[in-house]
Amino acid sequence: MSKIVVIGSSNTDLIAKIKDFPKAGETIKGVSYFQAMGGKGANQALAAHRLDGDVKFITSLGKDTNGLSTLEYYKKEGLDASLSLLVDDTPSGVAMIWVDEKGENSIVIISGANEMLSSGYIHEIKKEILKADLIVLQMEIPYDTVKTVCDVAYEHNKRVLLNVAPARKLNAEIIKKTHILIVNETEAEIISGERIHEIGEQAMVDNLLALGAKSVVLTLGSKGCIMRNESEYHKIPAFNVKSIDSTGAGDTFCGALAAGLTEGRNWKDSLIFASAASAICVTRLGAQPSIPTADEVYDFLKKNN
Ligand code: RIB
Repeated sequence: MSKIVVIGSSNTDLIAKIKDFPKAGETIKGVSYFQAMGGKGANQALAAHRLDGDVKFITSLGKDTNGLSTLEYYKKEGLDASLSLLVDDTPSGVAMIWVDEKGENSIVIISGANEMLSSGYIHEIKKEILKADLIVLQMEIPYDTVKTVCDVAYEHNKRVLLNVAPARKLNAEIIKKTHILIVNETEAEIISGERIHEIGEQAMVDNLLALGAKSVVLTLGSKGCIMRNESEYHKIPAFNVKSIDSTGAGDTFCGALAAGLTEGRNWKDSLIFASAASAICVTRLGAQPSIPTADEVYDFLKKNN
């Protein structure tokens, strides 16, 4: 099986369930609170791992209680994070997450140690990174680090899957070095400078391809997703489930897609597999506690196809 290296953030998620989002200056009573492991990088790595991908996860944690218990937890999960940094004097990343009754969320991240995952470190462990067949990236580590990984991967003909979350404008060179660009509507609009409701979903995908990505996946929430590259086009509807919490659903989709493609599934089956995994994720609370196993996805697909 092909190897996946995920390079990205780790956070401890502090999750408050609320009825409605508070207005500025308002104090509200929450419904419930719990803490779980998160971070877009870690969620994607764990999703690919739980879904039978061969994954190495590279992240940066502080030498604090959160950081040490996170490493312990990865060990228990069987996720190889042995190349990760454990830094002094900087706290591990945290995310404050509010989830309302409709399952929508609002997230504030304090990056902490995630910011210490530097380009210098990428060069140091370059040999290990280049053992990957697919390198998975998101945007919760320094932009310069993402750029360095893309440069190194490009130089050595390695495929990069880039999920541009949280949304930001991208340097054209990064897009050209990306094999699989995964974006939601907001991310697509920020990268392209166009509005989906004005130009339409297909044109948006075409515009992103024209910027140089080899394959583009546009995720559309409850409307499913669209994928296009030089030779293939797929429009996959979303599974109809009741959403409890959408946190981590996009990450689960990316991790599952990486697992699907590296396990040798074709594009269509990988997209359906990823859609099923993220559908299961939204029916549960929290990011990593919600990521399904491969058996859960197969079971779901049997019942819902
Ligand atoms: O995508 C969800 C993730 O975003 C959460 O786990 C949180 O840590 C933030 O990184």
